[in-house]
Amino acid sequence: MTAGELGRVLVCVPTYNERDNLEILVGRLRAAVPDADVLVIDDGSPDGTGKIADALADDDPRVHVLHRTEKNGLGAAYIAAFDWGIDEGYDVMVEMDADGSHPPEQLPRLLHALGHADVVLGSRWVPGGRVENWPVSRHVISRAGNLYTRALLGAGVKDITGGFRAYRREVLEGIDYAHVASQGYCFQVDLAWRAVRGGYRVVEVPITFVERERGESKMSQDIVREALLRVTEWGVAHRREQLRAAVDRRRARRAG
Ligand code: GDD
Ligand code: MN
Repeated sequence: MTAGELGRVLVCVPTYNERDNLEILVGRLRAAVPDADVLVIDDGSPDGTGKIADALADDDPRVHVLHRTEKNGLGAAYIAAFDWGIDEGYDVMVEMDADGSHPPEQLPRLLHALGHADVVLGSRWVPGGRVENWPVSRHVISRAGNLYTRALLGAGVKDITGGFRAYRREVLEGIDYAHVASQGYCFQVDLAWRAVRGGYRVVEVPITFVERERGESKMSQDIVREALLRVTEWGVAHRREQLRAAVDRRRARRAG
């Protein structure tokens, strides 16, 4: 399955202070998937990433830029990107970090898997998936976060927080992504959970996540806190729904 057979592919790359990473990433991406377009969503990076993005777009008609005025979180950046992509008629939307953690050379495999799926999640925590150069603290956060989420939601996804993914356009149109309230990396859990509940075919493909060499992660305590709170809320609501359904079934059996 090539990008061509899937229709038009838009790779959405959110940036905040990625001056030393963006050009390298876009170069690798254009080489790895030449018929995909690229959209950089920059939140007014003080380090001038937005200007670099503009220069890349000037040189290459396949590269586009959305400038936003404040740092509003990953979720808001992706919502703006999906709105743009849907308006422009793209068939597939990809999420990818700008720091090189998601190797563009692995994107063809994700797109290939989309041939028999609606959403493809690049996964660190399925056989064949890996993380390189992460501190123990990040391993713990990601593993614990995924375990907790799996226990509460039972979504059957091993890496629900990952940010290297491909969605068919119909999925985004079907899951009301515009009303996702999550701002930080919890946005990823939110979208995957909506896709699972919506009955879409969600598959995981192993990826190698390589920790960035340049610049800094924007991961923060607030981001972890938001994810913990929301997953707990969704989990409680989900289990309550399941319980109610079980009680209704039992009542119906007794009555009949
Ligand atoms: N526009 C915009 N606005 N971009 C942002 C913002 C924001 O507020 N916050 C982060 N980004 C961009 C970064 O510039 C980078 O390109 C990408 O989003 C990921 O940010 P990192 O800060 O590098 O994330 P990470 O490496 O700590 O986290 C990775 O793992 C998380 C947990 O598995 C990412 O892949 C996340 O998507 C993932 O949820
Ligand atoms: Mn990163």
